Amino acid sequence: MKKQTLEIGSYALVSSNMLKPAKNSPSAPWSPESWTTKPAKQLPEYSNAAELAAVVATLKNYPPLVFAGEARRLKKDLAKVAAGEAFLLQAGDCAESFAEFHPKNIRDTFRVILQMAVVMTFAAGMPIVKVGRIAGQFAKPRSDSTETRHGVTLPSYKGDIINSMEFTEESRRADPKRIIQAYNQSAATLNLVRAFAHGGYADLHRVSKWTLDFVKNHPLADRYQDIAHRLDQALSFMSAAGITSENSPQIREVDFFTSHEALLLPYEQALTRIDSTTGDWYDVSTHFLWLGDRTRQIDGAHVEFLRGIKNPIGIKCGPSLSTDDLLRLIDILNPDNEPGRITLISRMGHDKITEALPKIIRAIKSAGHIVVWCSDPMHGNTVTSSSGYKTREFKNILNEVKNFFAIHHAEGTHPGGVHFELTGQDVTECVGGAYRITEDRLSERYHTHCDPRVNASQGLELAFLIADELQTNYRRRRDLVNDEIVGES
Ligand code: PEP
Ligand code: CO
Repeated sequence: MKKQTLEIGSYALVSSNMLKPAKNSPSAPWSPESWTTKPAKQLPEYSNAAELAAVVATLKNYPPLVFAGEARRLKKDLAKVAAGEAFLLQAGDCAESFAEFHPKNIRDTFRVILQMAVVMTFAAGMPIVKVGRIAGQFAKPRSDSTETRHGVTLPSYKGDIINSMEFTEESRRADPKRIIQAYNQSAATLNLVRAFAHGGYADLHRVSKWTLDFVKNHPLADRYQDIAHRLDQALSFMSAAGITSENSPQIREVDFFTSHEALLLPYEQALTRIDSTTGDWYDVSTHFLWLGDRTRQIDGAHVEFLRGIKNPIGIKCGPSLSTDDLLRLIDILNPDNEPGRITLISRMGHDKITEALPKIIRAIKSAGHIVVWCSDPMHGNTVTSSSGYKTREFKNILNEVKNFFAIHHAEGTHPGGVHFELTGQDVTECVGGAYRITEDRLSERYHTHCDPRVNASQGLELAFLIADELQTNYRRRRDLVNDEIVGES
């Protein structure tokens, strides 16, 4: 408790408009800084509060990274997912870093997400809403606030927007200047992502060709070739029918949205602005923000912040989340039951999902809440290898996704999306997959700044395997519609 008081004390300095502490409730007064009156978990302790306040003041005058209208468009797309008419693919880095900032890395991550999306679109027979963990995914919650090595204890690394990974006192100090660097990197990243999405790079013919090339030399080519070839044929058919990149922006361009965890509240507060069109508050640091599993306290600062902004938001649902708490959270965060506002990102673990998810689904259904159901099969499946590396097994990741689909089929709800930590780089961080990365190979290219990510090949492989589930889903829906038509006639 003492620590929280300290934390709030230091944040009070960034607040120009303090509110009286009150329980979080949808009708209580709200402002971008009202979170400073609430207990906050996971925020760093800045030794120089005046320096932090100066950074927040500077950032307040910087341009928005996204427009409120774009966030509204994403919310509409997510409303379609909630209604069972689209599917969400959310993926990207666990933690973006200053050291790995390079156009090639951005391009490769964007590329693998596009490839995965195309495979999934084809299998699902429905639009895939594409959201990157990119252009702002810098702050990390940590299970332990300190780390001890050889008898020396220092604050944990909390992401490049807060401190640095090196194990020295100076590196681990929370430095407000990093906030500005993270903003600048996010702006440049987003600029490139927008160019890729709308400048021709994302052309469907190109993406299809990459996928054919991927499949050609793949150990599981027999299994994947079918979808890749059918996709290629569908595009040839469309060209023959006159639907080409030249005359159809839908073939040439994609909608690609950004997201990150709403963790470092001084940063989010500084980028929260009133939208001139609607008069509502939007956090213009990104399109979509999520509430982490470690910061979802009902009367906490993170919930307080998120309740006042109109962006679509996610809630990470770990195995310790009770249905009562979840229902209270949704009452606070979406009192009007607006479709597309809430995405529930379950991250239970492959061995816990069967027990934990059905209860949540039933509670949400009987309360009548409209939500997107999304599976994060990464965060409940982290283990430490015998060589000491944090890793995840490909088969457990896949298993959690398969269970997610099976549970939703059984409950009659729409398995709406998947959420992955991945990179376009050829890293060796998760074990398994067709190329059989083994534990003893983890050290070869283990680059992550935080959690282990699937690499490009493992990501695409997951997309193909999920495509099987999506196809089953698609056939079920089609049969249902046909039955209804037959019933009517
Ligand atoms: C994350 O998505 O990087 C994360 C830390 O997730 P969670 O809050 O679910 O642990
Ligand atoms: Co992570």
